[in-house]
Amino acid sequence: MAHLRFAVLTSGGDAPGMNAALRGAVREAHALGHVVMGVQRGYYGLIQDEIHQLSNRDVSNILQRGGTFLRTSRCPEFATVEGRVKAAETLRAHAVDALIVVGGNGSLTGAMALAEHWDGQLIGLPGTIDNDLYGTDETIGYDTAVTTALEAIDKIRDTADSHERYFLVEVMGRDAGFIALQVALGGGAEEVLVPEETPDFPAMLARLQKGKKAGKTSSIIVVAEGAYPGGAQAVAQELHKLGGDEYRVSVLGHIQRGGTPTARERLLATRLGAHAVRAAIAGETGKMVGIIGSEMVLVPFADAVGKKKPLDPDLLALARRLVGVS
Ligand code: F6P
Repeated sequence: MAHLRFAVLTSGGDAPGMNAALRGAVREAHALGHVVMGVQRGYYGLIQDEIHQLSNRDVSNILQRGGTFLRTSRCPEFATVEGRVKAAETLRAHAVDALIVVGGNGSLTGAMALAEHWDGQLIGLPGTIDNDLYGTDETIGYDTAVTTALEAIDKIRDTADSHERYFLVEVMGRDAGFIALQVALGGGAEEVLVPEETPDFPAMLARLQKGKKAGKTSSIIVVAEGAYPGGAQAVAQELHKLGGDEYRVSVLGHIQRGGTPTARERLLATRLGAHAVRAAIAGETGKMVGIIGSEMVLVPFADAVGKKKPLDPDLLALARRLVGVS
């Protein structure tokens, strides 16, 4: 069997579990007799030739840590042909056979574009808290982000209940409502606004008022950041204009991106990382590794980033039925 030279990088927004995925890839590659290089700071580091060999010890004691030990970046230069040509030169200079990119939509789109300038193998891993990549049930970072947001919601519920208040809680997710829906279900939110639907404020207000009459002492409205221009703050203003009530707003922000990955996250990321290596050894390229059920799958980049992953309408309906005011 030929000995491959792998390179790994993390790109775009960091996500808890990226370290576990890197460790999984590095150690699987070594276990199977291959070499692995680490690229610092994502595509920026590839352009700047920030690349060095990784040993098994280099990935010791990172499995349980959030962030990414390789660092990450959003790299506008990589969006240009000149940037990608430079990145390809770095890969050739280090005789890399296969590059593993851990990142979200933009990062995997970048990997697809790199294929026009470099003929090595490209394998992607879904690394984003947003869970918005098609062809995988879950992405690295999603479970931890949901867990973090839920802990915050539980705390906000205590205050909302004590003061008998309405609270709007804004969660991340860019153009997708996966985090919001999961958090709404897990936290028993009274309302959830997702980018996949157009908000109907009068109907929402009527339901909130019905809840109050039915004896609810607090209401939590989870707002996905992409659900309405201006986010939760703007939603609060719309509702206030309609009904006059006061709304407190909490924007959870980047706390959702950090912290210790959950057990489920570590297992997912470890499996995905190791599978990326095996996929490259099997000759695959231009694909993202995902998970469907409990199976590892390979998804062409064009599908992973080009197709819209739908929110489960049954889960959305369930979250709404369980509000308990019907
Ligand atoms: O894609 C992950 C994410 O956290 C999104 O949920 C959010 O919209 C965005 O990144 C924020 O990006 P930045 O950290 O660059 O402001």
